[in-house]
Amino acid sequence: MKVLSSSEETYRLVDQMRMQGKRIGIVPTMGALHEGHLSLVHKAKQQCDVAIATIFVNPTQFGPNEDLQKYPRTLQNDLELLSANGCDVVFTPTDAQMYPQDHSTFVEPPRVSQAWEGQIRPGHFRGVATIVLKLFQILPAHVGYFGRKDYQQVAVIRAMCRDLNLPIAIEACQTVRESDGLAMSSRNRYLSPSERQRALGLSRALKGAEMLIHQGCTDGRQIEKLMRKELESSPVDSIDYAAIVHPDTLEPIETITSEVVGIIAARVGTTRLIDNATFALH
Ligand code: PAJ
Repeated sequence: MKVLSSSEETYRLVDQMRMQGKRIGIVPTMGALHEGHLSLVHKAKQQCDVAIATIFVNPTQFGPNEDLQKYPRTLQNDLELLSANGCDVVFTPTDAQMYPQDHSTFVEPPRVSQAWEGQIRPGHFRGVATIVLKLFQILPAHVGYFGRKDYQQVAVIRAMCRDLNLPIAIEACQTVRESDGLAMSSRNRYLSPSERQRALGLSRALKGAEMLIHQGCTDGRQIEKLMRKELESSPVDSIDYAAIVHPDTLEPIETITSEVVGIIAARVGTTRLIDNATFALH
């Protein structure tokens, strides 16, 4: 596995691979890797000739009161995991390389970025869109692999690629969960054992929503109420949102007539967790 930190060298390598006719998949990450991240690498390996991962804790997507400083950094372990899982190339730039002192160009993120995470974390998707576009430029891949765990992030990246005519396909991959249902996340390691238990409220609330929909309930508000009740009984410490939304626009749905997505963001202790699930109508 090649580990590179220079953008020029990385671009040259990927460009060469493209000229050899190789199909290239890119998996952007912020490191602190777990099975969720590795599932994206596996998908890239299945569908492409070359799987490339990037590891960069992107400062521009963190708010002033967020966890940038304490975000877990486990580079050695990450490289071992990537190598053991068949990754071919890893790009690990420094902050100064990605954001030199005179860096002042940013992507204005698409409309779908405005609600939910975008409202609670102002500037977050501007940072995400900017870094993802930069990574796509440095690593001109054919396919970008992202997790549905960050449902709105995938919607933002898809819209950016459409709006800016980026020649890359976006694959959204299933959320990988712990055996008890907790969605895997680099932030789960902040949870104490008792918080870890309470964090199960998110996946339980989504399961409850699914059951209600399968019983025939089409009232979005009623399902939201049920999700909140479940979260409050866990209990989580605060709820940022718990909503039933349209899969593409992420607008709230009053009456369910086709597939919808349940989205949740809640705090357990000081850790902010998100989760979501897609519900088909039977
Ligand atoms: P990070 O949180 O490290 O996640 C990297 C990728 O792994 C994202 O596409 C995310 O959705 C996916 N992922 C995380 N947990 C997952 C799980 N349990 N199952 C499946 N996929 C999962 O998301 C980011 O980094 C950053 O915003 C980034 C896109 C790299 C831009 O900086």
